[in-house]
Amino acid sequence: MIKTFAKPSYKSFFLVLTCFLTFSCNKELNKKKQFVIGFSQCTTHDVWRKYMQKEMEMELSFHPEIKLLVKDANLNAEKQIQQIKELMDEKVDLIIASPAEAKPITPILEQAYSKNIPVILVDRSILSKNYTAFIGANNYQVGLDAGAYANTLLKGHGNVLEIGGIDTGSSADIGRHTGFEDVLKQYKGIKYVDRLSVNWDGDAIQAEKDMIRELQKYADVQLIFTQNDRIGLGCYKVCKNLGINKKISIISVDGLPGPNGGIDLVEKGMLKATILYPTGGKEAIQTAVNILEKRPFQKEIQLYSTFIDSSNVRMMDLQSQKILSQQNDIEKQQNVLKEQIKIYKNQKTFNNILTIALLLVFILGATVFYSWRRNKRIAEKLQIQNEEISKQSGQLIDISAKAEQAHQAKLNFFTNISHEFRTPLTLIFAPLGELISNTRLQYDTRSALQLIQRNAIQLYKLVDQLMDFRKIEFNKMKLKVSENDLVTFTHEIVNSFNVLAKNKSIDLEFLTSERVLLVWFDTTMIDKVIFNVLSNAFKFTEESGSINVSVSRNDERAVIKIEDDGLGMSKEVIDHAFEPFFQGEYENYKGTGLGLALSKELIELHHGCIIVKSEKKKGSIFEISLPLGNCHFEKNELAPDSCNKEPLIYEDPDLYTSNNINILPNNSLESFPQKFLSILVIDDNNEMREYLHSRLCRDYTVIEAENGNQALKAAFESVPDLILCDIVIPGKNGLELTQIFKSDIRTSHIPVILLTAKDQDSQKIEGMETQADAYITKPFNLMFLLRTIKSLLQNREKIKEHYSGEIFSEEKLHISKKENRKFIIEFTSIVEKNLDNEKFCVTNICDELGISRVQLYRKVKVILNCNVNDYIISTRLKKAKYYLQHENLTISEIAFRTGFSSAAYFSTVFKSKFGTTPTAFKEK
Ligand code: FRU
Repeated sequence: MIKTFAKPSYKSFFLVLTCFLTFSCNKELNKKKQFVIGFSQCTTHDVWRKYMQKEMEMELSFHPEIKLLVKDANLNAEKQIQQIKELMDEKVDLIIASPAEAKPITPILEQAYSKNIPVILVDRSILSKNYTAFIGANNYQVGLDAGAYANTLLKGHGNVLEIGGIDTGSSADIGRHTGFEDVLKQYKGIKYVDRLSVNWDGDAIQAEKDMIRELQKYADVQLIFTQNDRIGLGCYKVCKNLGINKKISIISVDGLPGPNGGIDLVEKGMLKATILYPTGGKEAIQTAVNILEKRPFQKEIQLYSTFIDSSNVRMMDLQSQKILSQQNDIEKQQNVLKEQIKIYKNQKTFNNILTIALLLVFILGATVFYSWRRNKRIAEKLQIQNEEISKQSGQLIDISAKAEQAHQAKLNFFTNISHEFRTPLTLIFAPLGELISNTRLQYDTRSALQLIQRNAIQLYKLVDQLMDFRKIEFNKMKLKVSENDLVTFTHEIVNSFNVLAKNKSIDLEFLTSERVLLVWFDTTMIDKVIFNVLSNAFKFTEESGSINVSVSRNDERAVIKIEDDGLGMSKEVIDHAFEPFFQGEYENYKGTGLGLALSKELIELHHGCIIVKSEKKKGSIFEISLPLGNCHFEKNELAPDSCNKEPLIYEDPDLYTSNNINILPNNSLESFPQKFLSILVIDDNNEMREYLHSRLCRDYTVIEAENGNQALKAAFESVPDLILCDIVIPGKNGLELTQIFKSDIRTSHIPVILLTAKDQDSQKIEGMETQADAYITKPFNLMFLLRTIKSLLQNREKIKEHYSGEIFSEEKLHISKKENRKFIIEFTSIVEKNLDNEKFCVTNICDELGISRVQLYRKVKVILNCNVNDYIISTRLKKAKYYLQHENLTISEIAFRTGFSSAAYFSTVFKSKFGTTPTAFKEK
């Protein structure tokens, strides 16, 4: 089962998140454009200016998008010019200026204005109209009002002094001074004494000293006009110190609230009056906002001043207190507001985080849902695919089972066919050998016959390979290893290829540095392997090529290398070279595809390995390595001491050469009485029967049967001396027949040779379990068959001789086969039982044993080597002999007891057997 889960799309998720954050941030940023206002202040040290700043800040609190950059010129015009330049360089959006002096500051502000930087003048002006807006009261009017009030206070007569600050060049100072002086000119009784300038915003002690010194110069002054409340207070203090405070009235400008502010001083009587002079801070910011936000604005905003004296000071004080308290409230509210904004911002941040979290949850939820749905679909799809795969795998299993069945059927077919090949091969090999052995053959005929023989051998080899392969497939190929010299062994095989090498002009060499290399192996199998690989090398090596075979020792392994410079193999072929039925790449060289596969299996049975290195057109190297020693073999794989090599038909070509061919010698069984012995040949193959008949008829009477029924009939009727039986025949097969023969009293004595193509050990064992006397496989060696027949018959003869001499004793009986012993016991007991029965004859025995006369005669002849009647007579006589020796009976009585019809007949027979009469024998 295949399982897959879709991964949530994290990429898309983070994309959405980034968009969201960017969007929310941009929203905040884009709400209002950020501005920077540069404020060039002539000074920040006095209370009035602090008020102005406070007003600005309060107004700015409504405009968080505006940043105020304050520069303090400290009443220094030069410094102020420099600072305005800096503001311009910093590219402020707008400049608010309160110039320390009008004249020197004018050009730099005009310059800023010309560079499209809006310029707002607050409180003080410049000597030009090149500015954007002006906010401030009319200082000339302030001077006029102050002068008129002085006239009123002095009732038209008196001396008046004016005291200002050191910023005499400022528009405020100039305006107030001019207005005051101008108005006093109207009053003839009022004398404008002088104008003093005191730095009251710097060193206060010094300023006080300066003022005392100056005031002492003007003893007859009744009123002093100070340009601001600060100077007014200082002036009062000095007057008081001088003791003149009661006769001098002081009027000033600003009208500031708070302690020591102008209102407070008027209320306390220190000042006669003060002119409220607004700072314009709030209006300056409002105008700046309008300009920056491109809204309409007033270029000249004139602020109005108010006179405060004892008549309205109370009200003004209350108002100012009210204003101050309101301002405090506003400040508090603003603080609260700031707090709230902070809280709001925090909440907003929290809200944003919450929103983001919710969004995340939503996105994750959506992703999970999407993934779940996708997985569900995939799972469903996979389920279908799995079912399909299961179905297909089921089909594949069926197909492969059928293929395996077909493969097995094919192999079975080949195996059966191979089996079937053995009989005709026998029929080819044997007569062929005989023909070739004929010395009178012409050269051409001999060559043709030898060609037939070589090809028959080749055919046998292929059949053998196929059958070997089947044996390996069914684990029926059993090793029988023995210790052999691999050098000699390999060399001999290589030598057998010398003629072929010579014919093909191939340089065949055997190389080794080992004198002897003892290796444990199954000679039959390794012979096949080397023979195979070497045959292959010859197959793929062209004329004038070379093949080198070497044997060496490498650590704990013996290595056989077969190297050729032939056609070689491609990589693909190398990969499949050892697979069964693989045909290779050369059309003309295709074989069964079993040779190398079989070789590999055989080598692996030896725990060795076989590898190939090859390159096309360069040749191939086959390397076979076998482990040394015998520890890697099972005990039952070790052969007994004797050489285990079974002669194989194709590995022993001499067997088929004229020198050794199995020609049956005419006198082969000369020592054995021939012809009258009969052999039953059971085989369904007519040619095989005919062939065996032709070879056996010279010495034996041959009876033939081609199926199980005929065989049974022939065996029971003619009771042959030997049965030669094929296993695979119609009707009852050879094994069943043998079992019947060996368990039937009529035939149990007959030696049975199973002559079959079934050559596996298990089949041989099965055959011998039927009590067959010999098992010979096809194609068989005729000489071996004849020798086996002869040997079995001779052994039979010996047993016969053994039993024929005397009456059987139990000890001797047990040598015989069970069935024969049973027969003899039954037969002798019948005879014994009937010794006194003169009418007892062969028919009685046949009836009792249930066999025919012929069968009885043959069986008695074979087992006891005598005639049935002779045996009965002989037994009667032996018994009579016993009576004569041990019993005191008359001759007649003995004749009667031993079944002779008369004493005379008894005497005749006795004398003919023992050469003496019963009477004479008794006397002796
Ligand atoms: C403060 C101040 C005020 C006065 C104003 C005139 O610097 O002297 O007292 O009213 O400037 O510009």
